[in-house]
Order: sequence, then C-alpha cells, then structure tokens
Amino acid sequence: MKVFVTGGAGYIGSHIVKILGERGYEVLTFDNLSTGHRWAVLYGRLVVADLKDKHLIEKIFKEFRPDAVIHLAADVVVPESIKKPLKYYKNNFCNTLNLLEACIKFNIRYFIFSSSAAVYGIPERVPVTEDTLLKPINPYGESKVFVEKALSDMSKAYDFKYISLRYFNVAGADPGGRIGQVSKNPTHLITRCLKTALGIFSALELYGTDYPTPDGTCIRDFIHVNDIAKAHILALEYLLDGGGSQILNCGYGHGHSVREVIKVVKQITNVDFPVIETERRPGDPPVLIADNRKIKRLFNWSPDYDNLAFIIKTAWQWEQRLSKNAI
Ligand SMILES: NC(=O)c1ccc[n+]([C@@H]2O[C@H](COP(=O)([O-])OP(=O)(O)OC[C@H]3O[C@@H](n4cnc5c(N)ncnc54)[C@H](O)[C@@H]3O)[C@@H](O)[C@H]2O)c1
Repeated sequence: MKVFVTGGAGYIGSHIVKILGERGYEVLTFDNLSTGHRWAVLYGRLVVADLKDKHLIEKIFKEFRPDAVIHLAADVVVPESIKKPLKYYKNNFCNTLNLLEACIKFNIRYFIFSSSAAVYGIPERVPVTEDTLLKPINPYGESKVFVEKALSDMSKAYDFKYISLRYFNVAGADPGGRIGQVSKNPTHLITRCLKTALGIFSALELYGTDYPTPDGTCIRDFIHVNDIAKAHILALEYLLDGGGSQILNCGYGHGHSVREVIKVVKQITNVDFPVIETERRPGDPPVLIADNRKIKRLFNWSPDYDNLAFIIKTAWQWEQRLSKNAI
C-alpha cells in the first residue's frame, strides 16, 4: 500500500510518516522544507518540491503510483495569515487544487486532509460538533473551509473519497525523542511555555484572565500528536475498507485552561518562569473543545495519550534536545 504524504517533513506529518512506516506502508513524502526538515522523515523517500509545481506532482504520481494521499502541506501561522492572506489562499487552497487535479488524472481515490478547528471561528456552543456553522475568523481558517468545499464537490463529481480531520490543539512529541515541533517563534501555548522555561523567552504572555471560565483563562482541547497520527491510519483503513467521505473532529472532548497548562509546565520543568497577564487577544474563543463522538463511533478511535502531563513531558524532552542542538 503506497501513501503520498505532503508536508511529511513537518511537525505533524513526520509523526504520521513514522507511524505509516512502522506499520509497513510504503511512504513518499513531498515537502518543500519551508518549515519541514529532512531529518524528520524517518521512513520512505523524500522528494523536496513545492505543490505549486503541478507537473512535478504528476511526474511523481506517475512514478510512485500512490493508492492514497495524506495532505498536510500548508502555511500554518494564524496571525501571519491575517497580514498575508494571499500567501495562505495561494498555498493552502490554490496549491491544493494542483494536488487534487493530479489525483483525478491518476485515479487516486482516497484522500485525507488536515483541516482545523479554525474552521469554526468562535463557536456558539461547545463541545463543537462537525455540523456547526463554519465561520472562520482568519484567512488560515478560511483556506481550510475552501479546501473542504472543493473536496465535498469532488466527492460528488468523481469516484473520489476523502476524510477531513479537523484537528484541535495538537501538542507533544513522539516519546521516542527523535521528532517534534521546531519553531523559533511558536504560537502554540505549550511550546511557548517550554521555551520560556528554557530561558529562550523572558516571560510568557497570558492573553486574557477575565473569560467566563472557572479560572478566567481560555480552555483548549490539547491532543497528543501521536493520537492525531493514529487517527490518519484509521482514516486510511476506513476508506480502504469501503467507507464513505467524512468530516471528523480530532480532539479529546475535554480541555485544560491556560493557567492549568502553565502550572503543569512549571511542575514538570521545575522552572518558575515569569508570566505577564495582558489583555485578551482578538479572536480567541473562551472555550474550544471537540465533540469527538463521531470519530470514536466511526473508527472505534480510542486515544492513547489523553493526559496533559504526559503531553507536556514529551514536549519538554523534545525542547531540551532542541535547545542542546542535539539534532
Ligand atoms: N499544529 C496544529 O496544532 C494544527 C492544528 C490544526 C491543523 N493543523 C494542520 O496540520 C498540517 C500540518 O501542520 P504542522 O503543525 O505540522 O505544520 P508544519 O509547518 O510543521 O508542517 C507543514 C509542512 O508542509 C510543508 N509545506 C508547506 N507548504 C508547502 C508546499 N507548497 N509544498 C510542499 N510542502 C509544503 C512545510 O515544509 C512543512 O514541512 C497543516 O495543514 C495545518 O494546517 C495543524
């Protein structure tokens, strides 16, 4: 079974490639290394190329003949997407159309897409179900909605099935310690806290302490990256077994507040780093938690790492390694 993975040299993609390799899938990673890394691809072949190059995608499809595509490649920084919307529409949407065209041309019928909870914007009700009205509040989230719309239309027009996985807050690193997130200026809370504990940042900014939550700070559904990776394998198996197109939330169905995360990071790192409480950031919903009943029911999905301390421990192990330049 051959799987073509775009963005397989990135944070989440490298964990997916690892689990695919361990399970005996033949993997080809297609990545321009804009934020990904050669060393992160632990299995299969890496083609360093850009999705804007339609002819190259077709050339690789012709040689490799994949049975399925897992599409992660994207620009992923929400604040940047507000400043540079065209970059996000071009890369996340237009380049995805190149890939989809090639899928139709080469009769690749199974497609798994990395979507995001950003499609919901500020949801009126939590936990958020998949049928919630999509109201993204930034070009990043909008670009994911565009792709989902294209996928839905394609599945009606062609013999083509897809699963769109809407990830919530992905965190942690592979416990084996060889791969993890690499970002000099991360926007993800846990990574930001850990880099502050390491002294890379002087203090952690806490945006908003007056939300209508028990401790006044935002609540998020943090999911370990290996549980996300496993969901892709289940999605692939589901499609190969004849399952139909689906849109599924990927989260644990419960959350942790920002203060809680800071407390656990301080306990694990044993560093009492400074925290600066500031105003709310525009566009942060107070609570963002997945309703995950659908993925559990369809895939019989049971997360292995639903434990905040474990998630933070694996991320801490990884950050320490990065800070020592041990990779
Ligand atoms: N990290 C999260 O919490 C999160 C949450 C929701 C959704 N997602 C989605 O998951 C996917 C992976 O995110 P990540 O956090 O691993 O980010 P990442 O930046 O680590 O990975 C993206 C990968 O795509 C590659 N890439 C980007 N544009 C490309 C192009 N035009 N051609 C070829 N390769 C290209 C990059 O080099 C990188 O390796 C993205 O689609 C993102 O939107 C992530």
